[in-house]
Amino acid sequence: NERQKLEEIFTVDTATLQRITERFGQELQQGLEKQGQNIPMNITWVTSLPTGDETGTCIALDLGGTNLRVCQVTLHGDSSDVQVIQERYELPSKLKNGTSEELWSFIADSLQQFIQQHQIEPQDDGTLPLGFTFSYPATQDRIDHGALQTWTKGWDIDGVEGQDVAAMLKSAMEERNLPTKLVALTNDTTGALIASKYKDPDTIIGAVFGTGCNAAYIEKIKNIPKMKLYADSRGHEGDDGVMAINCEYGAFDNSHTVLPRTSYDEIIDRESPRPGEQTFEKMSAGLYLGEIFRQVVVDMWRRGVIFESGSDSEEHDTEVDGIGDTSNHNDVRKETKKKSIDEPYIIDTGLLSQIENDQSDGELLLMRHVAQLIAIRGARLCVCSVSAICRRLGVESGHVAADGSVAIKHPHFQKRWEVAVAEVLGLERGKIKLTGAEDGSGIGAAVITALTMSKRG
Ligand code: BG6
Ligand code: GLC
Repeated sequence: NERQKLEEIFTVDTATLQRITERFGQELQQGLEKQGQNIPMNITWVTSLPTGDETGTCIALDLGGTNLRVCQVTLHGDSSDVQVIQERYELPSKLKNGTSEELWSFIADSLQQFIQQHQIEPQDDGTLPLGFTFSYPATQDRIDHGALQTWTKGWDIDGVEGQDVAAMLKSAMEERNLPTKLVALTNDTTGALIASKYKDPDTIIGAVFGTGCNAAYIEKIKNIPKMKLYADSRGHEGDDGVMAINCEYGAFDNSHTVLPRTSYDEIIDRESPRPGEQTFEKMSAGLYLGEIFRQVVVDMWRRGVIFESGSDSEEHDTEVDGIGDTSNHNDVRKETKKKSIDEPYIIDTGLLSQIENDQSDGELLLMRHVAQLIAIRGARLCVCSVSAICRRLGVESGHVAADGSVAIKHPHFQKRWEVAVAEVLGLERGKIKLTGAEDGSGIGAAVITALTMSKRG
C-alpha cells in the first residue's frame, strides 16, 4: 500500500548511512587536496582559536537565507559578558532573484539605518570595524576577500558569481560614506564554530541545519594539501598551524553515486535555479523539506490516493491549512486560491513540524506519516557529514554547535540526529551532542574580527 511504498523510498537504514558517511569522508579529503572539487572545503583564513579574552567593539553584518541581521557586538574579555544590539531586516523575496545593485543597496541601506538608529559613533581612528557573515560558498585568498563560487538556497542574482563580495559590499558602503571598514568575511558555519568555541572548549564542529545545511571545523594545516598553493605568496602559518575549514557539504554527491534519491528529489533538482548542484542540501535542508512534502502530496492527489480523484486541488486548500498566509480573514478563500498546493515552495518547513504534532486522523494521518518520513530522512542524512568529520578527526565525543531553523525549531530533530550519529559512529548516545549556536553568526563574526585585528597588531 501507499504507506509502505513511501516508507521504502524514504527510509535510510544504518548500512546506507554508513556507506554515505564513508563516501563523505572521501569527498572531504578530495576537497582538501585540490581546488574545484565537489565539496570545496573552503579555506577561511581563521587560523587561531578564541580564548575568551578577546575584546573590542565591532559591527557584524549577517546575510543568511531569510534575514539580514545587523549587530553591534562588544566583547569584554570574558565570554559570559558579551553585549549585543541587533536588528533584523527581512529580505524581500524578490531580492533573491533581483539584481546585484539591489542586493548591495539593501544591505548598505540597512547598515546605514542601523548606525543612525543606534547612533553608533566611529572609533578613535574614525572607522568602525565590520565582520561580514556571508552564508554562501566563497573562495578566499585572504580573510577580507571572497569570490562567490555559486549561489545556493534558491538565490539567483546575476553578476555576483565569480566576483569578490567583500569588494562589492565595500563599494556600497563607500557610496554612502559609512565609517564601517570590512575586516573579515566569514561563513555562518565558521561563525557558529568560533562563537561556540569562544564559550565552550568542547566544540568540535559549527553547523547550520537551516534553509541550507553545512558545517565548519578546525583542520591541521599539515592535513590540507592545497594549502601549498598559498605557501609562497602568503607565508601561511606553517605546517604546525590550524585552519578553520568551511566544508560547503551541501554539494555532497553531486555525481549521484550514493544518496538514495527519490523521483521527488529529482524533480526538485530539475526545477531549481541550479540543477545538478547541492544534491545533499536538496534532500536534507529546510528550504527543501516542505517542498519534498508538497511533491509527495501533489503526486498522491493526482493519483487519487488522497482527496477525491481528479478534483481541483484548490478545493482542498483548507485540508492543508497553514499554507502561506491563511490568517483568519474573510478573503482567506481568495488568498488560498492564489496559494494553492500547486505552487512550488508554498509549504514552509515549519508546517511539517505542525503536521507531525497534529493529533487528528483521517487523511491527515497519512500526511503526518509523510511529514515524519521526510523529516526523519533529513535528520538521519545530516549526521553523515558530521560523522565523517568526527572520523577524520578521530574524535569520539564533543559538541556540534548548531544554528538554523531546522535544528532550533523542529521538535524532533535533535533527538533523531543524536540517535543516528551514535548509530553511525557506534558510540553511546550523547557522546556527540548537538548544542545550540542560535544567533552565533553575529558573535562569531565579532570574535573573528577581534582575532584578525589582534593578529595585525
Ligand atoms: C541565523 C544566523 O541565526 O541562522 C545566520 O544568524 C544563518 O547566519 C541562519 O545563516 C541559518 O538559519 P536559517 O534557518 O535562517 O537558514
Ligand atoms: C548553504 C550555503 C552555505 C551555508 C549553508 C547554511 O549550503 O552554501 O554557505 O553555510 O547554506 O546556511
